[in-house]
Amino acid sequence: MFHTEIGQDIHKAKALLLEDSVVAIPTETVYGLAANALSEEAVVKIFAAKNRPFFDPLIVHTYSLDAMRKYVEDIPAKAIILLQQFSPGPITLLLKKKIIIPDLVTSGLDTVAMRIPNHPLTLSLLRELEFPLAAPSANPFGYISPTTAQHVADQLQGKIPYILDGGVATVGVESTIVGFEGEQPVVFRLGGLTIEKIERVIGKVQIRIQDSSNPAAPGMLSSHYAPIKKLRLVGEESHELEKLDKRRMGVIAFDKYIETISKENQILLSPKGDLSEAAKNLFAAMRRLDNSNVDLILAVHFPDIGLGRAINDRLKRASTT
Ligand code: TXA
Ligand code: MG
Repeated sequence: MFHTEIGQDIHKAKALLLEDSVVAIPTETVYGLAANALSEEAVVKIFAAKNRPFFDPLIVHTYSLDAMRKYVEDIPAKAIILLQQFSPGPITLLLKKKIIIPDLVTSGLDTVAMRIPNHPLTLSLLRELEFPLAAPSANPFGYISPTTAQHVADQLQGKIPYILDGGVATVGVESTIVGFEGEQPVVFRLGGLTIEKIERVIGKVQIRIQDSSNPAAPGMLSSHYAPIKKLRLVGEESHELEKLDKRRMGVIAFDKYIETISKENQILLSPKGDLSEAAKNLFAAMRRLDNSNVDLILAVHFPDIGLGRAINDRLKRASTT
């Protein structure tokens, strides 16, 4: 057990990371649970703190393309373009790993997920370190990702010594994951960088989102980002609504209340209809309803464009039916 401290001291975070401890760090997407990616002894502690199965590989964080080159071989041309256009930012690239990256980080795969997070505190921390940071989202395995330091503390209190507090995550959903088959880009996880933006700079991409639990395609486990309460994803015009007991029901919707339900338990993620704002508020809303007295969380399907696609993906994975 640790006494978990929350603070903004990157030197304290650095000292802990140097001794192979795990520290929660802020990023623009969600908080991460970080440790020295080159130390198996440190990385194993991430899996332990999260209760994460070893077959689910981690993302390695660095501060620049040059720093990244120390850990990966021959980066495809389109990956370079994506990095130059969107990093630091909410994109992760699957690249051929160098031997220096331990197998524990990649679950034995020959690719490593690499990303440059766009958060000033974490970028300063990464520049201070001589090693990159392996960091999955800082939630217990399967639960909703944290977008504030307090969310991390709510669940990992006592399991880690330090949470670096960088405020509320500005993007709010995890990074978009892009891999390559030869030079052909494939999106494996919808996330904070939209497909539209990606296609504008590298052309058409394949989207291959796993929706079944399949350890051979790590990272895309179907039940994920889930609250403890039952969550149901419904269409905007859903007739299913009629049949449900609405008294103990909470709602997550985009910009309009469901008229037949009391507003008290409804959360609009963006009353002004802005998908970026909705993404930023998504996980906090799921947590709030999970901690409220509702029995069922109803989520209304979002428009399938821009960040709406990542939001729908998370809601689908969080839903029980
Ligand atoms: O925004 C983010 O990406 C956040 C912040 C902390 O950077 N991190 C994050 O990590 O979402 P995590 O571990 O919760 O999700 C990473 C996903 C996992 O589903 C994992 O299976 C997948 O990336 N992944 C990692 N390495 C992979 C690889 N070599 N091949 C395929 N998938 C991989
Ligand atoms: Mg995660």
